[in-house]
Amino acid sequence: MRAFCFLFSWLWLSLAILLPFTILASIPIAKPGCPSSCGNLTIPYPFGIITENKGCYLSRYYSITCNTSFNPPKPFLAGGNLMVMDLNITGEMRITNSVGRNYFQDGELLTYSKAAINLNYFPYIISETANKLTLIGCDDYAYIYGTWGRTFTAGCMSKCSQPEDIVNGECSGIGCCQTSIPKGLKNFYADASSFSNHTNISDFNPYSYTFLAEQDKFIFNVNDLSDPTFKNRTKKDVPILLEWFIMDNQTCVEAMKNLTTYACQDNTKCTDFDGASGYRCSCNIGYEGNPYLIPGCTDINECADPNNPCSHICTNIQGSYNCSCPKGYKGDGLETGSRCISNRPQFVTRLILGVSLGLLFLVVSVIWICSTMIKRQKNMRTREIFFEQNGGLLFKQQISQYGGTMESSKIFSADELKAATNNYHEDRILGKGGYGTVYKGILGNGCEVAIKKSRVSGENQIEQFINEVVILTQINHRNVVKLLGCCLETEVPLLVYEYISSGTLFEHIHKNKGITSWLTWANCIRLASEAADALMYLHSAASIPIIHRDVKSTNLLLDDNYTAKISDFGASRLVPIDQTQVTTLVQGTLGYLDPEYFHTSQLTEKSDVYSFGVVLAELLTKEKPLCSDRKITERNLASYFILAIKEDRLIEILDPQLVREASEEQLVKMANLIKECLNVKGEDRPSMKEVALELEALKKQNRHPWGEQNTKETTHLSLMGQQQDLYPVDLNDQNGNVTSMELSGQYSLEISLMADMSHPR
Ligand SMILES: *[C@@H]1O[C@H](CO)[C@@H](O)[C@H](O)[C@H]1NC(C)=O
Ligand SMILES: *[C@@H]1O[C@H](CO)[C@@H](O)[C@H](O)[C@H]1NC(C)=O
Ligand SMILES: *[C@@H]1O[C@H](CO)[C@@H](O)[C@H](O)[C@H]1NC(C)=O
Ligand SMILES: *[C@@H]1O[C@H](CO)[C@@H](O)[C@H](O)[C@H]1NC(C)=O
Ligand SMILES: *[C@@H]1O[C@H](CO)[C@@H](O)[C@H](O)[C@H]1NC(C)=O
Repeated sequence: MRAFCFLFSWLWLSLAILLPFTILASIPIAKPGCPSSCGNLTIPYPFGIITENKGCYLSRYYSITCNTSFNPPKPFLAGGNLMVMDLNITGEMRITNSVGRNYFQDGELLTYSKAAINLNYFPYIISETANKLTLIGCDDYAYIYGTWGRTFTAGCMSKCSQPEDIVNGECSGIGCCQTSIPKGLKNFYADASSFSNHTNISDFNPYSYTFLAEQDKFIFNVNDLSDPTFKNRTKKDVPILLEWFIMDNQTCVEAMKNLTTYACQDNTKCTDFDGASGYRCSCNIGYEGNPYLIPGCTDINECADPNNPCSHICTNIQGSYNCSCPKGYKGDGLETGSRCISNRPQFVTRLILGVSLGLLFLVVSVIWICSTMIKRQKNMRTREIFFEQNGGLLFKQQISQYGGTMESSKIFSADELKAATNNYHEDRILGKGGYGTVYKGILGNGCEVAIKKSRVSGENQIEQFINEVVILTQINHRNVVKLLGCCLETEVPLLVYEYISSGTLFEHIHKNKGITSWLTWANCIRLASEAADALMYLHSAASIPIIHRDVKSTNLLLDDNYTAKISDFGASRLVPIDQTQVTTLVQGTLGYLDPEYFHTSQLTEKSDVYSFGVVLAELLTKEKPLCSDRKITERNLASYFILAIKEDRLIEILDPQLVREASEEQLVKMANLIKECLNVKGEDRPSMKEVALELEALKKQNRHPWGEQNTKETTHLSLMGQQQDLYPVDLNDQNGNVTSMELSGQYSLEISLMADMSHPR
């Protein structure tokens, strides 16, 4: 890298040094093989120094004698005595002067000389604009005579009596005077005469001087009047300016016709010479060199000049140059013009773009934040609306009416439950009940809960929902599923229960049908007893009697220890203390539904007893409450069970495992209890308290396997009354899922009944 930089700078350095020489060398001054200077004077062709080679000048009128006996050598015009002081290609030439001098002493003219120059036949004229005839003296007048072509005479006079009157630098008649000369002058002589031989003034002005000179180079001073060296000084310092040209009797147009004699070379322009017959040559614009010398003017490489007018890319072309811009830029490329501007967005444009984008982002952000806030606010309002719609007020009212407090159940937020159920993910569904879907939820504190989401939100449902909440807040029993709280902020109200892990009794009964399971006699009695206790508690022990209305094996849940827990109070009904019957719409589940209640719509605690009887029968037989595999008259488990007792074949329908484990007495007692529970008339059924006591007693009995007893002993089993087959519903239980046949209202029950009618008995 360092080596490269060194090489690079060296190249530049050498180029910078060589460049002036190359440029000078590239412009020919004189003809090849001819000296181009004499002394300090550069001599361009058509002029040339007289050497042995005769071709160094255009003609002898342009020849220059270089007298090398002087140091430095002096150039003289065409072998004469006029020394060339300056010569340039544009047509100007300065030569030494001729000065006339008169000397006076004591009123007498002592010496006398005149100025004269003869340029006849030569291709120069005396410039009439630059030169003036000048006279210095205080008692004189001067004449100039021109004698080429036509004669002319002109003159001026100067007078003064004391040097104090003289103004330095002024040649207007006091000590010095000047006069113009005519155009085209080639030959003159000038002399001065005195009025009174400088009488009385020769002490400060003994001389008079007359000369023709370039007026800009001469400045008059009062001391000149008495200076004896003035003549030589002026000859040396003050030149005459001549104008040279190509002497031909033709104008440019005529001269161009004969190219062998035409002096202008290639890339030149010809100008007619104004003062005499002839013309001049000059290089065209964009070219340089000597227009008189073959091959003429050459193109100027403007781009080689580091100060060229291009700002970016400079391309030299013949007679001119071309500024251009690199790819991706536009503009005239001129340093003084629009230069080159990138086509890409400029910084300002980019800044504006950036700022606009930033603003846009800000606006969008603000809008987003605002809309989120509005949405959240709206969400909150919606939640409030839902809270009211979902009976929040009713809830509060009821809670206080029944002496409960809000503290007894927590109100959960919608977000909390949404998070707990993983946004109600399908994987979390525990089951779908008559009144909604149950999800498993895990609260922030890690507690597992069951969240029940009502299926439909309607006036009726809301009432039921509130009902359940209010009822459950009244209840605190080890065999009743505990309500932890609810959420009213969502469109559909949510209930939060303790999570019961081991499923429903229904599942356990029917899942492992036919094989030995944990549902031993002892466990069955225990579960029955526990459930009976809970129902008894609901009917009597709680502050207000509560009828469950939907007792069934699917509503009996089992916890880790297989302890029974009653759940789903969706259809429950509080019975005011002074009443024992409530008239309501029939609600319940087919197979478990109390026929009396169905017919009369009179709801009593005994309806639960009937349903519980069905559950007991289910537990004992492991049969489903409705089963299309049985005969039409026996589809209903209640009918099936009663009929079996009546026909003395109870043992055939009981679960073999129980038959093995329980004593005959126990089984008979149990069967009798069930039969009583399934009594058609409600008042003939035992109360839940009686049932509970009976089951408690059975639980305490020792185990006596049936097998050791007389298997034919069934005589004391008798029916309390003829069981009516109320609704032998002919449903194809494809999924083996009885819950799917649940009824949640009178309407669907009627549909079912209509379906029954279409079937032949
Ligand atoms: C050069 O100048 C000297 C002195 O004026 C003169 O004697 C001599 O002849 C000149 N030489 C030529 C070649 O003109
Ligand atoms: C001036 O001097 C010349 C020569 O001495 C003489 O001939 C002439 O008469 C003088 N002129 C005057 C006006 O004195
Ligand atoms: C220039 O032209 C004039 C008249 O037109 C003629 O008399 C003279 O000889 C010519 N001179 C040259 C050098 O051609
Ligand atoms: C051009 O000038 C030369 C020299 O004077 C002469 O010999 C020649 O004939 C001229 N040519 C024309 C076309 O006039
Ligand atoms: C200068 O260069 C541009 C691009 O190469 C070209 O279009 C244009 O004609 C050129 N101008 C001249 C005067 O050559």
